Amino acid sequence: MQKTTLLHEGKAKKVFLTEESDLVIQEFKDDATAFNNKKKGTIADKGVVNNAISCKLFTLLEAHGVKTHLVEKLSERDMLCRRLDIIKVEVVVRNIAAGSLVKRYGFTEGTVLDVPIVEFYLKNDDLDDPLMNESHAVALGVATYEELSVLRKQAEAINLVLREFFAQRKLKLVDFKLEFGRHHDKILLGDEISPDTCRFWDLDTNEKMDKDRFRFDLGGVEDAYSEVQRRVLELD
Ligand code: TMP
Ligand code: ASP
Repeated sequence: MQKTTLLHEGKAKKVFLTEESDLVIQEFKDDATAFNNKKKGTIADKGVVNNAISCKLFTLLEAHGVKTHLVEKLSERDMLCRRLDIIKVEVVVRNIAAGSLVKRYGFTEGTVLDVPIVEFYLKNDDLDDPLMNESHAVALGVATYEELSVLRKQAEAINLVLREFFAQRKLKLVDFKLEFGRHHDKILLGDEISPDTCRFWDLDTNEKMDKDRFRFDLGGVEDAYSEVQRRVLELD
């Protein structure tokens, strides 16, 4: 399958149309941003690593009955995907308090949440992706109550699969962000699942092994990403 025209360029990926109207190619870049573009940089080989990890995790989720946009991994940086009408809702699932949950609500970082928290954010860079509830999403016309209920249930099911998978690889799945899209009459999981969109802490040492190393200049960013890749891909 060949790329034809560039459909969209985001912060971490480009999306291309293909000869097949129903299929697009996601190309993973090494560009990294944080805090909605306020911090910019590159992470060497991030695109290769995130494509490999995402393809593996989408395949795992498909095996557990989750419908995703993945068709196949085409090359190091390219993923062939079903074309989605992206739902402008970012779904965050949290197992352990970190990041904005700590800032916003005063949780102590590292507190294990008895029940995972699911949050919806409006996908809108100009507004800094504000936190919203179901009523906001429906009033804004970005999703229906029925769709939001599907997103929540899918996110909870995905969390159970991924938490177990990462625990076997000695990683705590602290939190992560998902995006979904409409495809004909179905809702599919889209975007990526990678150290850019998840927080992973080493099970034994709690060392951060994700984009927080870039966000907060902790060093060792590339090493952390490739160690996550190793645990995800090599420990089967
Ligand atoms: P947060 O604690 O900053 O709200 O982030 C929660 C999770 O969502 C974390 O794993 C990082 C991920 N995330 C993204 O993938 N994209 C974003 O734009 C933000 C803000 C968070
Ligand atoms: N992905 C977002 C950004 O670029 C935020 C983040 O991941 O921290 O800017």
